[in-house]
Amino acid sequence: MHEKQCDTVAAEKNYKIVQDISNFAETEAQRQEFDHQRPIEISKSPYPEWKYGEGVPDNGASLVQRHHEIDPYHPDRPMINNYRLLVSGIAPRPVGFLSTVNKEGQKNLSPFSYFQVVDHDPPMFIVGFSSRPGRVKDTYRNLKETGECVINTVSENMIEAVNATSIDAPYGVSEWEISGLHEAPSTTVTPPRVAESVFNIEGKVIDIKEFHDHQKPGMSIAATVLIKATRFWVKEGTANSDYSHIDLEKLRPVGQLGGVSYGRISSTFERPRKKWDEEVPNSELLVSLDKTRSK
Ligand SMILES: Cc1cc2nc3c(=O)[nH]c(=O)nc-3n(C[C@H](O)[C@H](O)[C@H](O)COP(=O)(O)O)c2cc1C
Repeated sequence: MHEKQCDTVAAEKNYKIVQDISNFAETEAQRQEFDHQRPIEISKSPYPEWKYGEGVPDNGASLVQRHHEIDPYHPDRPMINNYRLLVSGIAPRPVGFLSTVNKEGQKNLSPFSYFQVVDHDPPMFIVGFSSRPGRVKDTYRNLKETGECVINTVSENMIEAVNATSIDAPYGVSEWEISGLHEAPSTTVTPPRVAESVFNIEGKVIDIKEFHDHQKPGMSIAATVLIKATRFWVKEGTANSDYSHIDLEKLRPVGQLGGVSYGRISSTFERPRKKWDEEVPNSELLVSLDKTRSK
């Protein structure tokens, strides 16, 4: 075996991102059925009478426990602990479902939750590709090769199909077939859109940052990709008349949580955003802060 292959075999032994849940079917059999009809309720916010300067109005309950400091790079801290901590602690995360093709035109479809919209003007998105033993993620390779993708939203009714596409299929195998999801044509990029998604965003790669200084033997490079939208597609009947707002009841977004958990939105609340000049007369605290501002 070559030195590189030995490194990959060793790296595979330490790589435990994909959790082995052997009795999952048994566990799930005990759970209640998914309620497809459940409406999304709107409640008051947690503290509707909140005043400026009040912090968390819980009589200090949220300040009782102290924090435990962690060095993510300490030699005794396994990488998997950072993975588990981050995916459970930064949650829920939207799932960007990426459709890409390689330069031969072979299609790929995979979910990524190190994903976010980062601006609207221009519309920009970010996706993080984790390092793994051996080769880089096929989606990353395709983005580097062709610079194009479609970002598709993930609704509750799609989650089994979407989750299935995260399988470590051999390079060139199309997850479209694995999932049974349907293709719709794109106009500004080659990869097809996911017909079942409420919202598709065609996009082109603007920037790539690879983390060479952090690469470990036998592991692929980790990278972050910045994508600029070139076209939007919104499913008819899911948005208002000028396509400026998608109905949450129709989108039914799924968020990724820690472990192998996903979350749905069953309840929301609202808080209006305020203007300084309108709020100052209503608050002694803001009046005193207003006096200290630089003229
Ligand atoms: C919901 C979900 C979110 C995921 N998020 C990420 C992510 O943000 N970054 C990443 O590198 N892998 C992520 N994965 C794992 C990839 O989807 C998985 O490695 C997949 O096989 C990559 O496919 P590809 O090699 O065809 O691109 C996620 C998996 C699931 C199920």
